[in-house]
Amino acid sequence: MALREIAVQAARIGGGILQEWAGRITPQEKSPKNLVTEADLASQRAIGAFLAEHCPGHGFLGEEDCGTTSPDSEYRWIVDPLDGTSNYVHRFPYYAVSVGVEHRGRIVAGAIFDPTRDEMFSAALGEGATLNDSPIGPSVTPRLDQAMAVASLPVKTTSDSPEVRRFLKVLALAQSLQRTGSAALNLCCVAAGRIDAFWSTSLKPWDMAAGVLIVTEAGGRVTAIDGGAFSVDRPNLLATNGQGLHEELTAVLPRV
Ligand code: IPD
Ligand code: CA
Ligand code: CA
Repeated sequence: MALREIAVQAARIGGGILQEWAGRITPQEKSPKNLVTEADLASQRAIGAFLAEHCPGHGFLGEEDCGTTSPDSEYRWIVDPLDGTSNYVHRFPYYAVSVGVEHRGRIVAGAIFDPTRDEMFSAALGEGATLNDSPIGPSVTPRLDQAMAVASLPVKTTSDSPEVRRFLKVLALAQSLQRTGSAALNLCCVAAGRIDAFWSTSLKPWDMAAGVLIVTEAGGRVTAIDGGAFSVDRPNLLATNGQGLHEELTAVLPRV
């Protein structure tokens, strides 16, 4: 099976488990406001078992610490078994499972599954991005004052943090600015032309790995917030439709 198809099947398995657990979970705080549930853990365990069966010997990095395997492999699967845990806990239907795979440090395939809408986003390097098997592409909105932008803020945000200053700056400039609670789905929405720009300075590899490939394969653009090179191992990301609003944001976001 191709890596993309393995990612798709793994994400669907995780999504099924999230829906089985929905409404009967007992959330715990890993740290203040940072939630985990039985569903996160069950989803990651099932995805890990599926990958171990289909890709024996590959490396694995998951958000929930259910054990890391084969750190010396050329392949590394990067998994968020539930992105949008706060939304899931509050039954706000905007959460997903994210499964990406790197080969020698480059993301080569990924899938993000939204079980509430039965939407499967996927991509493979050089093969384009799809939503439920149909090709997707970003919007053509040219300017920030015509754009819908979305930001992810860290759970520990305080009222005087740089993230809040950034948010307020763009609030005044964009046509619309939202905070939605799932970085993985925000990236899919950029890829599918549903939002024009998404940024964050507090993401982890499992929030971004699959989504960044889905955006770039769809024809969007991903950089650091200052326009520099993006790396999945750094928390700082700006994903847009690639129009002029990308430069408008790189001019504004670093200066707070
Ligand atoms: C969170 C979401 C959220 C982002 C947080 C992440 P989780 O992931 O992606 O949008 O703002 O920084 O931690 O905890 O729901 O998997
Ligand atoms: Ca996450
Ligand atoms: Ca998570």
